Amino acid sequence: MTKVVVLFSGKGSNLEALIERLHGKRVGEDEIRIVPITNRPDAGGIERARRHGIESVVVDHTLFESREAFDAALVQAIERHDPALVVMAGFMRILTPVFTSRIDAINLHPSLLPLFKGADAIRKSFESGMKVGGVTVHRVTRELDSGEILAQACVPIDANDTLESFTKRVQALEHRLLPETVVALLKERAAG
Ligand code: GRF
Repeated sequence: MTKVVVLFSGKGSNLEALIERLHGKRVGEDEIRIVPITNRPDAGGIERARRHGIESVVVDHTLFESREAFDAALVQAIERHDPALVVMAGFMRILTPVFTSRIDAINLHPSLLPLFKGADAIRKSFESGMKVGGVTVHRVTRELDSGEILAQACVPIDANDTLESFTKRVQALEHRLLPETVVALLKERAAG
């Protein structure tokens, strides 16, 4: 069995897309298990995962004295599962070297990096005057939203789009691109 840890903080629509695409399925010889981990006991993704019979691990960041102490507890929770891959899907935490020096992770970001790093990326894309926005999956490094780009895809910004209509298309693309990228990485790993 091969585990994929998914870190999330919010509604977990990307977590659910990964569960639906991968949990209990085979990639190569391996059966994949999704292990959801969140920093928020009230994250909506906990209920979404539960609907698929999956309990999430909660490492509540408010219970820790410092970022480093939380990151150390998060690293421990991840390493306990010895995952083949760690995916950040809407994990709203700035990570310290305590995490980035120990864990190789990939992250989903809702803009065409290196444009619009950080928070509010969808609105920044929408208001940029560009004709396209998009989604990026990249490796996590110490510097925010700056690691090697693994996958990208564009979303047109139409003249009659609203922020809401554009956001819906970005999120629909995320739910496709992230699982596709995770499967490709797992196949690469299985091929050795
Ligand atoms: C996604 O848009 C992701 O790109 C961003 O946060 C959002 C998470 O959404 N980092 P969800 O919790 O997966 O629904």
